[in-house]
Amino acid sequence: MAFALALLATDLVATGVQRAVYLHPLDRTKLIKVLRPASLSPKRNNFNGIMDRLLPSTRLRQIQKEYAEYLRIMLRNPGPDFHTPIAHMFGFTPTTEGLGCVTERVMQPGGQIGETLGAKVRANSLTQAHIDLLNDTISRIYAYDIRASDMNPNNFVFGQRDNGTGPGDEECVLVDGFGDIHAIPVRSMARWSNRLGLNDSCKRLARNTGLNWHPKSQEFSLPA
Ligand SMILES: Nc1ncnc2c1ncn2[C@@H]1O[C@H](COP(=O)(O)OP(=O)(O)O)[C@@H](O)[C@H]1O
Ligand SMILES: [Mg+2]
Repeated sequence: MAFALALLATDLVATGVQRAVYLHPLDRTKLIKVLRPASLSPKRNNFNGIMDRLLPSTRLRQIQKEYAEYLRIMLRNPGPDFHTPIAHMFGFTPTTEGLGCVTERVMQPGGQIGETLGAKVRANSLTQAHIDLLNDTISRIYAYDIRASDMNPNNFVFGQRDNGTGPGDEECVLVDGFGDIHAIPVRSMARWSNRLGLNDSCKRLARNTGLNWHPKSQEFSLPA
């Protein structure tokens, strides 16, 4: 039989719109993301949702763009001290649920999967310390010119990263939504066009979280 990593229903830790997220069965520092069958994904009537139904290949294009962005950022910053604001991606592996993308696991000190910005907003548990971590990530997204097209609150995860030598400090990691997914790749045209896009994405993130966005200092703050 061909090799496929066995993913168990009990290791399913999150489901997004597109992907189901499993604990890696052999490596506690990693997750495996598999595409959910299109029929199970919620029907979305925004542009991306309609394109997904009309053209299933757009789903695959998005994944390709995400990977391409990860490669672009990492190859531009190959030094050992580079502190990437986006989740590490370690390639693909066959699994019993289909092709899976091996990703780093952002986790709480107890080992449980990290909480998203969206979950913290819903639970009303965002503190100034979380905002500081979010702002640190946002500043690195701007500094490294990362094409973050979908800054959805559920795509930012708070927690520790562990490269095998032990967990680091808590941080906020963009785990999804990077890559220039637009039909006309304006974000990739120039650094200034990506900055305009990032400004828009931050404004939208503020609307979706109830946070204040300060365009001059490029920082979020808790509402007064
Ligand atoms: N690297 C990660 N570390 C911790 N949790 C993650 C990670 N990646 C994804 N998740 C969790 O899984 C959910 C869905 O993953 P995501 O990559 O956003 O899939 P989708 O493409 O379906 O939106 C996220 O909202 C988050 O809760
Ligand atoms: Mg997502």
